[in-house]
Amino acid sequence: MKRNKKALIFGITGQDGSYLSELLLKKNYVVHGVIRRSSSFNTSRINHLYQDPHINNRKFILHYGDITDSISVSSIIKKILPDEIYNLAAQSHVAVSFEVPEYTANADAIGSLRILEAIRFHNLQNKTKFYQAGTSEMYGKVIEVPQKETTPFYPRSPYGVAKVYAHWITINYREAYDIFACNGILFNHESSRRGGTFVTKKIVNALCKIKLDLQKTLYLGNLEAKRDWGHAKDYVVAMWKMMQQKKPKDYVIATGKQYTVKQFVNLVLKELKMEYSWKGTGINSKCFVKGFKNKIVSVDKNYFRPLEVDTLLGNSSKAKRELKWKINYNIKSLIKEMVSEELSSLKNDKKIR
Ligand code: NAP
Ligand code: GDD
Repeated sequence: MKRNKKALIFGITGQDGSYLSELLLKKNYVVHGVIRRSSSFNTSRINHLYQDPHINNRKFILHYGDITDSISVSSIIKKILPDEIYNLAAQSHVAVSFEVPEYTANADAIGSLRILEAIRFHNLQNKTKFYQAGTSEMYGKVIEVPQKETTPFYPRSPYGVAKVYAHWITINYREAYDIFACNGILFNHESSRRGGTFVTKKIVNALCKIKLDLQKTLYLGNLEAKRDWGHAKDYVVAMWKMMQQKKPKDYVIATGKQYTVKQFVNLVLKELKMEYSWKGTGINSKCFVKGFKNKIVSVDKNYFRPLEVDTLLGNSSKAKRELKWKINYNIKSLIKEMVSEELSSLKNDKKIR
């Protein structure tokens, strides 16, 4: 009988970790995941997958650990002997990385090294494949448009710089030790499971609350930043496909379309059927909606970053050609789903209260 493949996911409690777990379970993997100890529950995105430790032949197994703790990383890998490791663990907020740069480097840069070193140290070169969650933030102050695999990096935040280290150490271990190690260079991807402080989720949550009369104003930072936004469900498929190739390579994953933050706000308002108009420009921009007395969107300069990535636009031709990767969501269907799930969850909360 064919044995099930074993995957180990660092960052299983995050947005991508939860979708990747669902995908791998559907493909009959046994999925192991690393969770951090926390004073409150941090497993809301994977609770629906949880299996009681007392049942036999579990397919979903969680382990306590931390990407900043070499011994825990190494001992989990040795215990599980996974076929595939997905390193999604990171301090993933760009603005926060300016506040905690050293921790960001420890988790996002050295964290990747810890996993690669454990693969090498335990002689798993011929057994264990490695995926590194790279990012379009590495392109930062972009040197060409659109960005592809050969575009040079110019990171603009401690987060971006840490991820550039992780990118190159992955290539270094691939070349030095023949480890199947690949980098996905993923552009922004969102969903209803996105953390509440990322701009798409923050916008959807606030505008839905305003519509339901639960909030008055949404405060945002730079409205002119342009991003290439996709859906996380599409992007985890690309991660898995990279790991099934004959040779480990690096791939850009993006939609090839970009919108400003302000356009994203407008699309959400349209989805909510709220009639809007903007007044003022730049830091003085304000958005008004028919039927609402006060401004519903305003700019707060506290949300500006010490350095901004003004524009990101990806070219994922290589992934489409070699991985046969396909996109199922566009910006409209992404927003439609995020708005609909946000409204349901807010209405549910209201009922409970
Ligand atoms: P996310 O929702 O912020 O999830 C990050 C995950 O990493 C969480 O499970 C978090 O655990 C875990 N983590 C953080 N610090 C850790 C530590 N010290 N030890 C162990 N685990 C730790 O991020 P995401 O959006 O799913 O993104 C997944 C990965 O892709 C990240 O590496 C991110 O940088 C990268 N990426 C994301 C995007 C995007 O647009 N989403 C684009 C490109 C690259 P807790 O739940 O305990 O906090
Ligand atoms: N978070 C946030 N909050 N961003 C805002 C706000 C606000 O109130 N107002 C404007 N923005 C702008 C940011 O300045 C940025 O230009 C853009 O909205 C997107 O911000 P985020 O949603 O925080 O995402 P990000 O692009 O900085 O980083 C995300 O994508 C990267 C891939 O390019 C994260 O998921 C990273 O982990 C990921 O690597």
